[in-house]
Amino acid sequence: MIKKINSEQDSFLLQTDNTAYAFTIEPSGHPEHLYYGSKIDADALDELFALHQKREFEPGNVIVYSEEHNTTSLEDICLECSGEGHGDVREPFIVLVRADGSRTTDFRYKSYEITDLKPEFDSLPGSYSKDGKVEHLCLTLEEDGMILEVHYYVYPECDVITRSAKLINNSQEEIQLERLLSAQLDLPDHGWAVTAFHGAWAREMDKSTVIPDRGKYIIESRTGCSSNRANPFFMLHRPDTSEDIGAVYGFNLIYSGNHYACAQVSAFFKTRVVQGVNPAGFRCILEPGETFEAPEAVMTYSDYGFSGQSRNMHRFVKEHILRGEWGNKERPVLLNSWEASYFNISESNLVSLAKAGRDLGIELFVMDDGWFGDRNDDFRALGDWDCNPKKLPGGLSRLSKKVTDLGIGFGLWVEPEMVNVNSRLYEAHPDWAMAIPNKLHSEGRHQRILDLSNPEVSDWMIEKMSEVFSSGNITYVKWDMNRIFSDVYSPYLPPKRQGETAHRYMLGLYKVMKALTERFPHILFEGCASGGCRFDLGILCYFPQIWGSDNTDAVCRSHIQEGYSYGYPQCCIGAHVSACPNHQTLRSTPIETRFNIAAFGALGYELNANDMTSDDKEQTRLQITLYKVWRDVLQFGDFYRIRTGENHHQWIAVSEDKSRAVGLFMQELVQPDLQSHRFICKGLDPDRTYRFHNISGKVNIKLFGSLINTMTPIHVRQDGILHNMIARFVKMGGEVEDYTAKGSVLMGAGVALRQQFSGNGYNESVRLFPDFASRMYFIEAVE
Ligand code: DGJ
Repeated sequence: MIKKINSEQDSFLLQTDNTAYAFTIEPSGHPEHLYYGSKIDADALDELFALHQKREFEPGNVIVYSEEHNTTSLEDICLECSGEGHGDVREPFIVLVRADGSRTTDFRYKSYEITDLKPEFDSLPGSYSKDGKVEHLCLTLEEDGMILEVHYYVYPECDVITRSAKLINNSQEEIQLERLLSAQLDLPDHGWAVTAFHGAWAREMDKSTVIPDRGKYIIESRTGCSSNRANPFFMLHRPDTSEDIGAVYGFNLIYSGNHYACAQVSAFFKTRVVQGVNPAGFRCILEPGETFEAPEAVMTYSDYGFSGQSRNMHRFVKEHILRGEWGNKERPVLLNSWEASYFNISESNLVSLAKAGRDLGIELFVMDDGWFGDRNDDFRALGDWDCNPKKLPGGLSRLSKKVTDLGIGFGLWVEPEMVNVNSRLYEAHPDWAMAIPNKLHSEGRHQRILDLSNPEVSDWMIEKMSEVFSSGNITYVKWDMNRIFSDVYSPYLPPKRQGETAHRYMLGLYKVMKALTERFPHILFEGCASGGCRFDLGILCYFPQIWGSDNTDAVCRSHIQEGYSYGYPQCCIGAHVSACPNHQTLRSTPIETRFNIAAFGALGYELNANDMTSDDKEQTRLQITLYKVWRDVLQFGDFYRIRTGENHHQWIAVSEDKSRAVGLFMQELVQPDLQSHRFICKGLDPDRTYRFHNISGKVNIKLFGSLINTMTPIHVRQDGILHNMIARFVKMGGEVEDYTAKGSVLMGAGVALRQQFSGNGYNESVRLFPDFASRMYFIEAVE
C-alpha cells in the first residue's frame, strides 16, 4: 500500500505486509528518507515527525544548502537520491556533466503520481505481477529542464520494494551522464554489517561479512557480466543478526552487466547504501530529448534474520521475476553430455548416452559443446552455428528425433554471444566483434565478444538462433557465455559513445533474449556463463534457471548452493551429479551425497551413464524416482538453512501448505568419538503431527576396509578377490530413522539421529557417516 500523507510537506509511506518505507519532501525540495524497517503506520505528517531529523544549526565545516534553507546541510541528511556539488560528499546517486563542463546536480521535487500499473521500461527487464497490477509511486524531480523520475514498486506479500530511475533530458543541451544508480538507502546510524558473495570460476557465492565502520565497502563487477567475482545480491544486517532473529536488509539488481554497490559510513555516522550500474567505464551521452533508464533494484527487510530475508527474496523471484511457460513449472531431470564426452561427440555416442540416461529415469538429454562447425576444441568455430556433418550426419533434426523417440526430451548448448577469430563468422564480419582498432585484443578462452550494441549483430543472432532452435525437436537450450570483457570497444558506436558500450551490450542481449523466449515459449532456457558468472535477476527474467557452477564436486556445491540460497530459490539453480573422482577437484564423494546436494536444485546428471557401476546405476534409478515424487517440494518449497558453515550443512525445504518437507544433513569431515547429531526441523506447522523418516540404503561392506576381519572367521585381504566377492553378495542394511511427532517437537527439540559410527562397534542401527556422507529426511503430515 502506498500512502500519500497530506500536509504542506508531501510525505509518502510505502507499506508491505510486514515492512514500511517512508520519506518526506523537505521545504528545499529534496526527498528526505525517514524510515525503512518493520511495519509502522501513520496518517498525518505529525505522526512521522518523530522520525524526522531535528536540525537547528548546521554541523561544523559543512556546506549549507542555501540562505533560505540554512539548516540544510545535504551531507548530514538521509536522502532518497543525492546529486553532487551542493555539499553532499557521500556516494552520489546521479552524476552528470553539463555542456559548460560543470558537475553540480540538484534535482528537486516537482510532482508525484501513484498508480497500480507498472510502466514497462523500454530497454530493460523488470519485475512483474501476474495480474498486471503493481502498486507504483513515481516521484518526479527536475533541474533545468532535466527530469529525474524515481519509481517505487511495492510487492506486499513478499515484503519487497523495488526502485528504478529514469533521466529524461528535456533541456536544450547535451549532457554526459556518468552515473545513474537504482537504489539509495540512507540509514540514520552505523554499525551495520555487510554480507556479500564473492568468488571466482568454480568458487561462486563465497559468503563473507564485513563491518564497514568508517569509509566505504564496495561490491562490484567490472567483468562486463554480473560476475562470479561479486554477485549483485548482498545483505545489510546487525552484526549479531542470526539465521532466524535480527534485522536484515536484502538488496539485488535486475541487471546482468557491470554492477556496483557501496555501503558507506559518513562523517556523521550515517550509513548510505547505493546500488546500480557500475559507473566505472560508464558514460552516456544524452542529447536533448534522449532518455536513460536505470535497472530496477530490489530491496527487502526482515526482522527474522537471514532466513526471513531469504524467504522474502525467494518468493519475490518465484512470483515476480520468473515467468513464461517454465517460470513455475517443475524442471525435468536432465543428462548433459559435457563431462561425459567434452568435445568428442558423435550421433551414435550421444544416442547411446541418452539411452543410458533414459534407463536411469532421465527426462531430457542435452548435447553440450562440440556439435557445430569445426568445434573439436575451444580454439575455433564459435559463431559457425551449423551442425558438423561428420559428427552429426543427420543434423539436429535426426539426432533430436532419435533422442525424442527414446521417450525423452532433447536440448542443446549454444554460446551465441561469442566468436572465435578462427571461424567463418569472424572471417565474414570481423567488425562484429568488440575490439579497439589497431590495438592488441586480449582474449579469454580464445574467443571474442560479438558487439551486441550493434543492431545488425543482435538481429543476426535472433535469426540464426531461431534457425537453430527450429531445426529439430528442441525443448531445452543451455545459453552459455564463457569470457569476461576486455578491451571494451564497439566498432559500431561513435567515439564519444564508447562509454555506453558495456551497457548497450546488455540492452542488445536483453533484446535477443526477449525475442527468442517469445518466439520459443515452450523451450526451457538455462543461463550459463562459465558456471555462475552471470547468475542474476536480469537473466532470470528470461531464463528460469541458471547453471550454478562448473564445479560439480558435492562438497564445494554444498557451499556454493548454500551461498545462492540467501538470495535465490532452489528452482533456478542448475545442479548436477557427476562422476568421481570429480573433474574439478579430483575428490571422491558418495553417490548418495552427490544426489542429495544436487536434488536441492534443478537436478541433472553430467557423467557417462554407460560407465557407471551397476550399484551406482541402481542407486541412481531409485534416487531419480524419489526426486520425482518430492520434486515440487525440493524445487519450489520454502527453503530454510538449519546449519551452515564449515563442517555440517543442514537444510530443509517445506511445501507451501506445510504438509511435506525434505531435510538434508551433510557432513564434510567426520570427527571421531562424536556419536550424536540432531536434526532440528524448521518451517513445519507446530500443531500438526508428522512422520519423520529416511530411506534406508544398502551398505557396501568395503566401506569398512580391513575392519571386515573383525567379523569374518578367515582372513580377508583388503581389496582382494574374496573381499570383492563378499562385497558383491553381502549387503548390510543402513540405519532406519522413523519417528512420529508433533511439528513443535521436530522444530523445538528436533530428532536425535541414530548414533554415528565412531570406531567402537557397529550394527545396522548405527549411522555410517564418514567424510562427505549425507542423508535426506522426509517429513510428512499424518492426518
Ligand atoms: C562452460 C560451461 O559452464 C560448461 O558447463 C560447458 O558447457 C562448457 N562451457 C562448454 O564449453
